[in-house]
Amino acid sequence: MTADEERTSDVQRVLEWLYQDELRHSRLIWRLESDARLEPPWPFRHLYYDPAGAVLVDLHGHPKLGGADPDWFQVDATDPVALGLLCGVRLPQHSEILCHGDLLPVLQTLGATETVGMLEVHVCWPGELGPAALPCEPTRLTPRHRAQVAEDGWRPDDLAEELDEEQGGVRWAILRDNRIVSRLLVQRVSEHLAEVADVQTAADARRRGFGAALVQNVVRRLHERGLGVTYSVHPSNRPSLALAASVGFRFAFRWQRVRVTRPWEE
Ligand SMILES: CC(C)(COP(=O)(O)OP(=O)(O)OC[C@H]1O[C@@H](n2cnc3c(N)ncnc32)[C@H](O)[C@@H]1OP(=O)(O)O)[C@@H](O)C(=O)NCCC(=O)NCCS
Repeated sequence: MTADEERTSDVQRVLEWLYQDELRHSRLIWRLESDARLEPPWPFRHLYYDPAGAVLVDLHGHPKLGGADPDWFQVDATDPVALGLLCGVRLPQHSEILCHGDLLPVLQTLGATETVGMLEVHVCWPGELGPAALPCEPTRLTPRHRAQVAEDGWRPDDLAEELDEEQGGVRWAILRDNRIVSRLLVQRVSEHLAEVADVQTAADARRRGFGAALVQNVVRRLHERGLGVTYSVHPSNRPSLALAASVGFRFAFRWQRVRVTRPWEE
Protein backbone atom coordinates (compact mmCIF):
# COMPACT_ATOMS: atom_id res chain seq x y z
CA MET A 1 0.00 0.00 0.00
CA THR A 2 1.37 3.48 -0.87
CA ALA A 3 1.49 6.22 1.76
CA ASP A 4 -1.47 7.93 0.05
CA GLU A 5 -3.56 4.76 0.03
CA GLU A 6 -2.70 4.14 3.66
CA ARG A 7 -3.86 7.65 4.58
CA THR A 8 -7.10 7.24 2.66
CA SER A 9 -7.83 3.98 4.43
CA ASP A 10 -7.04 5.60 7.82
CA VAL A 11 -9.50 8.39 7.05
CA GLN A 12 -12.11 5.81 6.03
CA ARG A 13 -11.66 3.95 9.33
CA VAL A 14 -11.94 7.17 11.32
CA LEU A 15 -15.10 8.15 9.44
CA GLU A 16 -16.67 4.75 10.11
CA TRP A 17 -15.97 5.16 13.81
CA LEU A 18 -17.22 8.76 13.86
CA TYR A 19 -20.50 7.75 12.23
CA GLN A 20 -21.22 5.43 15.16
CA ASP A 21 -22.19 8.61 17.06
CA GLU A 22 -22.99 10.98 14.25
CA LEU A 23 -24.52 13.73 16.37
CA ARG A 24 -21.67 14.08 18.81
CA HIS A 25 -19.01 13.61 16.16
CA SER A 26 -20.59 15.76 13.46
CA ARG A 27 -17.95 18.49 13.76
CA LEU A 28 -15.14 16.05 13.19
CA ILE A 29 -17.03 14.33 10.39
CA TRP A 30 -17.67 17.66 8.70
CA ARG A 31 -14.02 18.63 8.89
CA LEU A 32 -12.82 15.35 7.43
CA GLU A 33 -15.50 15.17 4.75
CA SER A 34 -15.26 18.77 3.62
CA ASP A 35 -11.50 18.58 3.49
CA ALA A 36 -11.72 15.43 1.40
CA ARG A 37 -13.66 17.54 -1.12
CA LEU A 38 -11.02 20.26 -1.27
CA GLU A 39 -9.27 20.55 -4.60
CA PRO A 40 -6.59 19.30 -4.20
CA PRO A 41 -7.67 17.51 -1.02
CA TRP A 42 -5.93 18.30 2.20
CA PRO A 43 -3.78 15.23 2.63
CA PHE A 44 -4.78 14.42 6.22
CA ARG A 45 -1.14 14.33 7.09
CA HIS A 46 -1.91 15.20 10.67
CA LEU A 47 -4.82 12.98 11.42
CA TYR A 48 -4.10 10.62 14.28
CA TYR A 49 -6.24 7.67 15.08
CA ASP A 50 -6.18 5.03 17.73
CA PRO A 51 -8.08 1.78 17.07
CA ALA A 52 -9.42 1.94 20.65
CA GLY A 53 -11.56 4.89 19.62
CA ALA A 54 -9.63 8.13 19.95
CA VAL A 55 -9.18 10.63 17.19
CA LEU A 56 -7.13 13.78 17.09
CA VAL A 57 -7.29 16.06 14.09
CA ASP A 58 -4.33 18.38 13.90
CA LEU A 59 -5.26 21.39 11.81
CA HIS A 60 -1.72 22.70 11.77
CA GLY A 61 -1.17 21.74 8.15
CA HIS A 62 -4.66 22.80 7.09
CA PRO A 63 -4.77 25.16 4.09
CA LYS A 64 -7.37 27.43 5.69
CA LEU A 65 -7.43 26.77 9.42
CA GLY A 66 -3.79 25.87 9.94
CA GLY A 67 -0.88 28.11 10.69
CA ALA A 68 -2.55 29.70 13.69
CA ASP A 69 -0.53 30.02 16.85
CA PRO A 70 -1.06 27.94 18.95
CA ASP A 71 -1.74 24.76 16.98
CA TRP A 72 -5.38 23.85 16.72
CA PHE A 73 -6.94 20.42 17.28
CA GLN A 74 -10.34 18.84 17.31
CA VAL A 75 -10.59 15.77 19.43
CA ASP A 76 -13.01 13.14 20.63
CA ALA A 77 -12.70 9.70 22.14
CA THR A 78 -14.73 6.91 23.62
CA ASP A 79 -11.71 5.61 25.49
CA PRO A 80 -9.97 8.22 27.68
CA VAL A 81 -6.93 5.96 28.14
CA ALA A 82 -6.40 5.73 24.38
CA LEU A 83 -6.90 9.46 24.07
CA GLY A 84 -4.42 10.18 26.86
CA LEU A 85 -1.81 8.04 25.15
CA LEU A 86 -2.44 9.61 21.77
CA CYS A 87 -2.33 13.18 23.11
CA GLY A 88 0.71 12.32 25.18
CA VAL A 89 2.59 11.47 22.01
CA ARG A 90 1.15 14.05 19.62
CA LEU A 91 0.32 17.30 21.38
CA PRO A 92 2.90 20.08 20.97
CA GLN A 93 3.84 22.37 23.84
CA HIS A 94 1.05 24.85 23.06
CA SER A 95 -2.26 23.83 21.54
CA GLU A 96 -5.90 24.76 21.47
CA ILE A 97 -8.38 21.91 21.51
CA LEU A 98 -12.08 21.69 20.78
CA CYS A 99 -13.27 18.67 22.72
CA HIS A 100 -16.18 17.07 24.49
CA GLY A 101 -16.32 18.35 28.10
CA ASP A 102 -15.86 14.93 29.68
CA LEU A 103 -12.38 14.71 28.16
CA LEU A 104 -11.10 17.62 30.24
CA PRO A 105 -9.60 15.33 32.94
CA VAL A 106 -7.51 13.64 30.23
CA LEU A 107 -6.11 16.96 29.05
CA GLN A 108 -5.41 17.97 32.66
CA THR A 109 -3.05 15.02 33.00
CA LEU A 110 -0.99 16.41 30.10
CA GLY A 111 -0.36 19.97 31.24
CA ALA A 112 -1.92 23.23 32.39
CA THR A 113 -5.39 23.72 30.91
CA GLU A 114 -7.46 26.85 30.48
CA THR A 115 -10.98 26.79 29.09
CA VAL A 116 -11.14 29.66 26.60
CA GLY A 117 -14.53 28.98 25.07
CA MET A 118 -17.58 26.79 25.19
CA LEU A 119 -20.22 25.66 22.80
CA GLU A 120 -23.52 23.93 23.53
CA VAL A 121 -24.92 21.87 20.71
CA HIS A 122 -28.71 21.62 20.48
CA VAL A 123 -30.55 19.39 18.04
CA CYS A 124 -33.93 19.26 16.32
CA TRP A 125 -34.76 16.08 14.40
CA PRO A 126 -37.58 15.81 11.84
CA GLY A 127 -40.89 15.70 13.72
CA GLU A 128 -39.57 17.78 16.65
CA LEU A 129 -40.32 21.27 15.31
CA GLY A 130 -42.34 23.42 17.73
CA PRO A 131 -45.57 25.35 17.04
CA ALA A 132 -45.55 27.56 13.96
CA ALA A 133 -43.67 30.86 14.19
CA LEU A 134 -44.50 33.93 12.07
CA PRO A 135 -44.82 32.95 8.40
CA CYS A 136 -41.92 34.25 6.29
CA GLU A 137 -40.39 33.78 2.84
CA PRO A 138 -36.60 33.85 3.35
CA THR A 139 -34.25 35.05 0.62
CA ARG A 140 -31.22 32.98 -0.29
CA LEU A 141 -28.33 35.45 -0.34
CA THR A 142 -25.96 35.59 -3.30
CA PRO A 143 -23.23 38.05 -4.36
CA ARG A 144 -25.96 40.37 -5.70
CA HIS A 145 -26.81 41.09 -2.04
CA ARG A 146 -23.36 42.54 -1.31
CA ALA A 147 -24.72 45.96 -0.36
CA GLN A 148 -27.26 44.58 2.12
CA VAL A 149 -24.68 42.24 3.61
CA ALA A 150 -22.17 45.09 4.06
CA GLU A 151 -24.84 47.15 5.81
CA ASP A 152 -25.65 44.17 8.01
CA GLY A 153 -22.01 44.05 9.19
CA TRP A 154 -21.18 40.68 7.61
CA ARG A 155 -18.26 40.40 5.15
CA PRO A 156 -19.60 40.68 1.59
CA ASP A 157 -16.57 38.81 0.21
CA ASP A 158 -17.63 35.72 2.17
CA LEU A 159 -20.79 35.49 0.05
CA ALA A 160 -18.76 34.00 -2.77
CA GLU A 161 -18.00 31.01 -0.53
CA GLU A 162 -21.52 30.73 0.87
CA LEU A 163 -23.32 29.37 -2.15
CA ASP A 164 -22.93 25.68 -1.56
CA GLU A 165 -24.34 23.91 1.48
CA GLU A 166 -21.75 21.16 1.21
CA GLN A 167 -18.76 23.52 1.18
CA GLY A 168 -18.90 27.00 2.75
CA GLY A 169 -22.62 26.84 3.52
CA VAL A 170 -25.66 28.75 2.28
CA ARG A 171 -26.89 32.01 3.75
CA TRP A 172 -30.60 32.81 4.20
CA ALA A 173 -32.14 36.08 5.33
CA ILE A 174 -35.41 37.89 5.94
CA LEU A 175 -35.34 41.16 3.99
CA ARG A 176 -37.57 44.11 4.85
CA ASP A 177 -37.42 47.33 2.78
CA ASN A 178 -34.39 45.88 0.99
CA ARG A 179 -32.54 45.50 4.30
CA ILE A 180 -31.52 42.35 6.16
CA VAL A 181 -33.44 42.07 9.42
CA SER A 182 -32.41 38.51 10.26
CA ARG A 183 -29.93 36.07 8.74
CA LEU A 184 -28.26 32.70 9.25
CA LEU A 185 -25.92 30.22 7.59
CA VAL A 186 -26.71 26.55 6.86
CA GLN A 187 -23.81 24.13 6.65
CA ARG A 188 -23.98 20.43 6.05
CA VAL A 189 -22.05 18.71 8.87
CA SER A 190 -22.54 15.03 8.06
CA GLU A 191 -24.69 12.67 6.04
CA HIS A 192 -27.81 13.15 8.19
CA LEU A 193 -27.16 16.53 9.82
CA ALA A 194 -26.99 20.20 8.89
CA GLU A 195 -25.96 23.02 11.21
CA VAL A 196 -27.78 26.35 11.47
CA ALA A 197 -25.08 28.88 12.38
CA ASP A 198 -24.47 32.59 12.73
CA VAL A 199 -28.09 33.51 13.42
CA GLN A 200 -28.44 37.23 13.88
CA THR A 201 -31.29 39.72 13.95
CA ALA A 202 -30.61 43.45 13.44
CA ALA A 203 -30.49 45.16 16.84
CA ASP A 204 -33.56 47.32 16.14
CA ALA A 205 -35.60 44.34 14.93
CA ARG A 206 -35.11 41.97 17.85
CA ARG A 207 -37.87 40.36 19.93
CA ARG A 208 -40.34 40.66 17.09
CA GLY A 209 -40.22 37.03 16.04
CA PHE A 210 -37.94 37.42 12.99
CA GLY A 211 -35.17 35.13 14.29
CA ALA A 212 -37.55 32.33 15.24
CA ALA A 213 -39.46 32.69 11.95
CA LEU A 214 -36.28 32.42 9.88
CA VAL A 215 -34.79 29.52 11.84
CA GLN A 216 -38.07 27.61 11.81
CA ASN A 217 -38.58 28.09 8.08
CA VAL A 218 -35.05 26.90 7.27
CA VAL A 219 -35.23 23.96 9.70
CA ARG A 220 -38.54 22.85 8.18
CA ARG A 221 -36.97 22.74 4.72
CA LEU A 222 -34.03 20.73 6.05
CA HIS A 223 -36.42 18.33 7.80
CA GLU A 224 -38.31 17.87 4.55
CA ARG A 225 -35.05 16.59 3.09
CA GLY A 226 -34.74 14.13 5.98
CA LEU A 227 -31.93 16.04 7.74
CA GLY A 228 -31.60 16.60 11.47
CA VAL A 229 -30.46 20.10 12.43
CA THR A 230 -27.92 21.24 15.03
CA TYR A 231 -27.65 24.71 16.59
CA SER A 232 -24.49 25.71 18.47
CA VAL A 233 -24.61 28.40 21.09
CA HIS A 234 -22.55 29.71 23.98
CA PRO A 235 -24.30 28.67 27.23
CA SER A 236 -24.42 32.31 28.39
CA ASN A 237 -26.34 33.52 25.32
CA ARG A 238 -29.84 33.61 26.76
CA PRO A 239 -31.63 35.20 23.77
CA SER A 240 -30.12 32.60 21.45
CA LEU A 241 -30.99 29.71 23.80
CA ALA A 242 -34.55 31.08 24.06
CA LEU A 243 -34.81 31.25 20.29
CA ALA A 244 -33.54 27.67 19.87
CA ALA A 245 -35.94 26.34 22.51
CA SER A 246 -38.90 28.20 21.01
CA VAL A 247 -38.24 26.58 17.63
CA GLY A 248 -37.98 23.06 19.10
CA PHE A 249 -34.26 22.45 19.64
CA ARG A 250 -33.14 20.53 22.73
CA PHE A 251 -29.74 20.31 24.41
CA ALA A 252 -27.52 17.51 23.08
CA PHE A 253 -23.99 18.05 24.43
CA ARG A 254 -21.33 20.62 25.20
CA TRP A 255 -17.92 21.19 23.60
CA GLN A 256 -15.12 23.07 25.31
CA ARG A 257 -12.31 25.00 23.77
CA VAL A 258 -9.26 24.36 25.91
CA ARG A 259 -5.78 25.85 25.79
CA VAL A 260 -3.22 23.25 26.83
CA THR A 261 0.35 24.13 27.82
CA ARG A 262 2.54 21.13 28.39
CA PRO A 263 5.63 21.11 30.57
CA TRP A 264 8.62 22.06 28.45
CA GLU A 265 10.80 19.10 27.57
CA GLU A 266 14.36 19.64 26.36
C1 LIG B 1 -30.43 35.58 19.36
C2 LIG B 1 -31.16 36.48 18.35
C3 LIG B 1 -30.79 36.00 16.94
C4 LIG B 1 -32.66 36.33 18.57
O1 LIG B 1 -33.33 36.94 17.47
P1 LIG B 1 -34.78 37.61 17.58
O2 LIG B 1 -35.23 37.91 16.21
O3 LIG B 1 -34.74 38.72 18.57
O4 LIG B 1 -35.61 36.39 18.22
P2 LIG B 1 -37.20 36.25 18.24
O5 LIG B 1 -37.85 37.60 18.39
O6 LIG B 1 -37.64 35.43 17.08
O7 LIG B 1 -37.39 35.42 19.58
C5 LIG B 1 -37.40 34.01 19.60
C6 LIG B 1 -37.66 33.54 21.02
O8 LIG B 1 -36.55 33.89 21.86
C7 LIG B 1 -37.00 34.73 22.91
N1 LIG B 1 -36.02 35.80 23.10
C8 LIG B 1 -35.43 36.54 22.13
N2 LIG B 1 -34.62 37.45 22.69
C9 LIG B 1 -34.70 37.26 24.04
C10 LIG B 1 -34.09 37.88 25.15
N3 LIG B 1 -33.27 38.94 25.00
N4 LIG B 1 -34.38 37.41 26.39
C11 LIG B 1 -35.23 36.38 26.55
N5 LIG B 1 -35.86 35.75 25.53
C12 LIG B 1 -35.59 36.18 24.29
C13 LIG B 1 -38.32 35.32 22.45
O9 LIG B 1 -39.13 35.66 23.55
C14 LIG B 1 -38.88 34.18 21.65
O10 LIG B 1 -39.41 33.20 22.52
P3 LIG B 1 -40.99 32.86 22.49
O11 LIG B 1 -41.25 32.36 21.09
O12 LIG B 1 -41.12 31.81 23.54
O13 LIG B 1 -41.65 34.14 22.79
C15 LIG B 1 -30.77 37.97 18.54
O14 LIG B 1 -30.88 38.29 19.90
C16 LIG B 1 -29.37 38.31 18.07
O15 LIG B 1 -29.14 38.63 16.89
N6 LIG B 1 -28.38 38.26 18.99
C17 LIG B 1 -26.99 38.60 18.66
C18 LIG B 1 -26.33 37.52 17.81
C19 LIG B 1 -26.35 36.17 18.49
O16 LIG B 1 -26.03 36.03 19.67
N7 LIG B 1 -26.72 35.15 17.70
C20 LIG B 1 -26.79 33.78 18.15
C21 LIG B 1 -25.52 33.07 17.90
S1 LIG B 1 -25.63 31.38 18.43
